[in-house]
Amino acid sequence: MEVQLIHEKWSKVECDALLVPLFEDQLDSEGLAQEINISQDGLLSELEQNGGWTGEQGENTTIYRPRGTKIGRLILIGAGPKNLYSEVDYRALFMSVVVSTKAYRLPVLGILSVGSPDPKRMARCALEGLMLGVASTVDEYKTVERPVAGVGQVLLVSEGSEVDAVTASDLERKAGVMATATNDARRWTNEPGNIMSPSRLADQAQKIADSSSLDIEIWDEKRIEKAGMNTLLGVARGSDEPARFVIIRHQGAPSSDSPPGVLIGKGVTFDSGGISIKPSLHMEEMRTDKAGACAVLAAMQAISRLQVPQNVVGLLAVVENLPSGRAQRPGDVVRSMGGKTVEVINTDAEGRLILVDAIHYARQLDPAFIIDIATLTGACVVALGKVRAGIFCNADRLCSAVQEAASKADEKVWPLPLDSEYRHDLRSYIADIKNVGGRWGGAITAAKFLEEFVGEIPWCHMDIAGVSLYPEGSVVKGATGFGVRTLVEIVSDSSLYPE
Ligand code: BES
Ligand code: ZN
Ligand code: ZN
Repeated sequence: MEVQLIHEKWSKVECDALLVPLFEDQLDSEGLAQEINISQDGLLSELEQNGGWTGEQGENTTIYRPRGTKIGRLILIGAGPKNLYSEVDYRALFMSVVVSTKAYRLPVLGILSVGSPDPKRMARCALEGLMLGVASTVDEYKTVERPVAGVGQVLLVSEGSEVDAVTASDLERKAGVMATATNDARRWTNEPGNIMSPSRLADQAQKIADSSSLDIEIWDEKRIEKAGMNTLLGVARGSDEPARFVIIRHQGAPSSDSPPGVLIGKGVTFDSGGISIKPSLHMEEMRTDKAGACAVLAAMQAISRLQVPQNVVGLLAVVENLPSGRAQRPGDVVRSMGGKTVEVINTDAEGRLILVDAIHYARQLDPAFIIDIATLTGACVVALGKVRAGIFCNADRLCSAVQEAASKADEKVWPLPLDSEYRHDLRSYIADIKNVGGRWGGAITAAKFLEEFVGEIPWCHMDIAGVSLYPEGSVVKGATGFGVRTLVEIVSDSSLYPE
């Protein structure tokens, strides 16, 4: 997909479709909406009068072959009230419009960001949204012939100096890398458990490393056992598919000794719950319980392509959680890599068990900080719904950096607490700690469990259980790729590394 910057009046642009975001308040004022209205003999006012157009967020309307132009379709996108500009996820908005209007089949698409309070942000969101929209169909396993996405060229239309050439080429590069990585994470996450086994996910990582400057090491079960990662192996025991631990290194700092930022992803290729088996309703969604690992892998790819000038290590803890005669039982006690013993109360709380061994490995790298990302708890979905991911940090400085990174990436997060009282629920009379607490505050007790293994290192845990899939009823289905862009922004923040 080629991106081209065009300085031209919107009506002079030649393209198959021109996407134009319009704010509610623009309809009754001067400006772009009026200009379009007048050029189309009052069509917009007419639509407005009969309820065909309000400018509400998510509403869109198509004007075919607008007169006096060489535009195939003018797609007006309801951008909502202008005063909510900073809150709205315009990337998602553009993505849904591209999907619902099937604009992804058109060879030349134009985007206009005129009239927006921040045209650069609008252009970036539009470009990324468009790229996400083009790759939004989850139909790889449909055998009927499907129309392929046809977009070959994207025109960034800027009537004045809203978007200059430097911004445009910057945008093209960064938006291109970010959207591609997000789409990769979505595609990998969507893969079913019978295809994307732990070893296949590791193969995928190998492929990414082979085609980039990333260095990779893939541990098989023997090697994992040798390292003493018993809480990770305990989860994998029930499955015939062997576990994998993947270490991906990006050396961006001048010295290979500089402390790295470490990203850890939960990669449960299928989570049945194990012996503490889940109810069957919606169990199929647990094929996406590897979203965290897929986000880390995709982020590493983007980090290498953007040549982030820091050392970054990505760790993928990859297992399948199934019941069998060999499976780990509730009541089992396992010794983690760091030596702490864990009483496994519930085999469905497996994410934290694989993460803590990865966290211990990370500590040995003398890291500047550790971020883990995981579809960890249903309780986080109860707390924050499907809008924001929960974040838990042991250091205020890192917490604000993560929030800032997320807001740059237009991904929504919300900090949740780690008070010491929450630890009480995890007391075990037989081992150092148990893997689940009581009924309440489940997202927090899960984070408290992880914190126990982190020590003094600045650490942030992102629970993406609620945001890893598009909610029911969305135009777009399957995985969102949440976290990829935020992770890239976090590791790019030079203030998080020692001088
Ligand atoms: N993978 C699930 C969490 C999850 C739930 C992800 C919903 C996406 C959507 C996790 O492994 C799990 O099963 N957690 C349990 C923990 C409980 C046993 C303490 C849960 O949340 O019910
Ligand atoms: Zn589980
Ligand atoms: Zn899980």
